[in-house]
Amino acid sequence: MRKPIIAGNWKMHKTVEEAVALVREMRAALDAIETVESVVCPPFIAIPAVAEALRGSRVGVGAQNMFWAKEGAYTGEIAPGMLQGWCQYVILGHSERRQYFGETDEGVNKKVHAALAHGLTPIICVGENLEENRAGQTDAVVRRQVVAALAGLTAAQVASLVIAYEPVWAIGTGLNAEPADANRVIGLIIRGAIAELYDEATAQAVRVQYGGSTNPANIGAFMQMPDIDGALVGGASLKAANFVEMVRIAAQVRG
Ligand code: PGA
Repeated sequence: MRKPIIAGNWKMHKTVEEAVALVREMRAALDAIETVESVVCPPFIAIPAVAEALRGSRVGVGAQNMFWAKEGAYTGEIAPGMLQGWCQYVILGHSERRQYFGETDEGVNKKVHAALAHGLTPIICVGENLEENRAGQTDAVVRRQVVAALAGLTAAQVASLVIAYEPVWAIGTGLNAEPADANRVIGLIIRGAIAELYDEATAQAVRVQYGGSTNPANIGAFMQMPDIDGALVGGASLKAANFVEMVRIAAQVRG
């Protein structure tokens, strides 16, 4: 049985003070929900303060990115070892990183290896953009991104990580994918590729989230889909009441 996981991707929002206030507002309500894992992913600078505010809580902490090297002359970057002790998760290959910061499939793969080597669980983002979607390339693009991100990993490593299927056209637009369409891509394309590369047990073990304009009103429909194990939530994760409500609904549907 895959435990559902709802992660809040705060992106470039919240000062350190605001970040701490937000988790303080959510902590008790999230701690009361045992059947769904909840994770918050603040900006780097707020991670230690948020982790402190969540000490003893069941709410996980994730980073939004990291570099693959252990250390060195990489101005502006954060190494995997720097996240150790503060984070359990790290979002890798988010479409905004691919789109605005030149991240490639190969780079994402290096980061996945580095994260796992440092005991961090990657949340690997994949998804087609609007042009690819309209051209009927969704399946090919998602498959390519999954195969590239997982290159060189063992089955046990793949089984331990999280994948987020995030159609780029659905992110921050208010236009979520149809739950059944997202379920098809996740079941057929993402789990299908993993079953081919590894085996069916690994494909069934990996947790796959949907992301893109999820909110309290639509999360229930996504959670009803058999291949969707939760959500990577952007905008709706910035308000305590919304995020808590989404985790609560996920627990009602799937907990
Ligand atoms: P959104 O963002 O929920 O604001 O669409 C999702 C994401 O980018 O992870």
